[in-house]
Amino acid sequence: MADIILGIESSCDDTSAAVIKDGWLLSNVIASQDVHKAYGGVVPELASRAHELNIVPVVSEALSQAGVQAQDLTAIAFTRGPGLLGSLLVGTSFAKAMGLALDIPIVMVNHLQGHLLADFIRRPGEEVREPSFPYLCLLVSGGNSQIVRVDGPLDYTILGQTIDDAVGEAFDKCSKMMGLGYPGGPIIDRLAKQGNPLRFKFAKPHIPGLDYSFSGIKTSLLYFVRDEMAKDPGFMENNKEDICASFQKTLIDILMDKLIKAAKQTGIKDITIGGGVSANSGLRQRLVAEGARRGWRTFLPPFKFTTDNAAMIAIAGWFHYRAGERTPLDVAPVSRMSDF
Ligand code: KG4
Repeated sequence: MADIILGIESSCDDTSAAVIKDGWLLSNVIASQDVHKAYGGVVPELASRAHELNIVPVVSEALSQAGVQAQDLTAIAFTRGPGLLGSLLVGTSFAKAMGLALDIPIVMVNHLQGHLLADFIRRPGEEVREPSFPYLCLLVSGGNSQIVRVDGPLDYTILGQTIDDAVGEAFDKCSKMMGLGYPGGPIIDRLAKQGNPLRFKFAKPHIPGLDYSFSGIKTSLLYFVRDEMAKDPGFMENNKEDICASFQKTLIDILMDKLIKAAKQTGIKDITIGGGVSANSGLRQRLVAEGARRGWRTFLPPFKFTTDNAAMIAIAGWFHYRAGERTPLDVAPVSRMSDF
């Protein structure tokens, strides 16, 4: 009999539910929360309230788009963490209640593992192209910047990670600082396309090994803009495309330098990217270009799987389910990676 998995994701500000059947995606519904835009960042209390409003209609819509009845489900996979505790609590409680009502197992998933396994979501009508184990994943989002070695669906090692800010935070905070809006990544990406990436230089960190640091570049941009604005108050407005292009290029250089180093050290040539920042057009182009030069097989997730989505939670949950894992109903969500 086929395994039909309902995935539920509520770790930050997107409420999402998806259905997969033996690895094939039947539906993936995402309700994003616009309420945070006015605050220039996610407000945890507002996020959990919005999840409460969204969760029932989002799950119903996912089941209906999949043409699946709740009684047909084999198991429910949900994000246990890391993320905002109040947000996670909504998805976790919903999964527990639904699992109990239907008398089917629930399976907890680490959100980051969802990003790592997003390439295994099979989409009807599209070519199946999956990385081979072991592969490297550059996992870049608003909360993480990591290089992960994936040896199997449930077997992964973090080779390097940020020692301070995540790269998505650098995009978001610098966009806010420049008065461009939130979330910063897509805005900077759009402006960068019209600018000259070689016009300005920003300091790059010198961190040993495969770890990252993104707090210094934030300060470097802050001082640069402040000094130039003191000379010419119109500097920001008149040069924002070039500033964004140069800033984005620096972030991509930092990410790619360590990824290339990791690929050399491990000899691994299958490379994937995941997380919200993997939607960045400059990073995607650069990865493909480096891959072609270095003989890598590169895997770029479709845009809808770069940000938070339940399809990746469902696929990761399916791997856990097939490995015989079942989560007890007294499970509690966890906000930090280290609590996993
Ligand atoms: O994975 P994600 O949706 O959420 C969590 O971090 O949990 O990632 C969100 C991050 C934000 O920092 C956002 O600015 C960034 O992804 N982002 C981008 C782009 N689209 C989203 N960063 C750069 N370029 C983009 N096109």
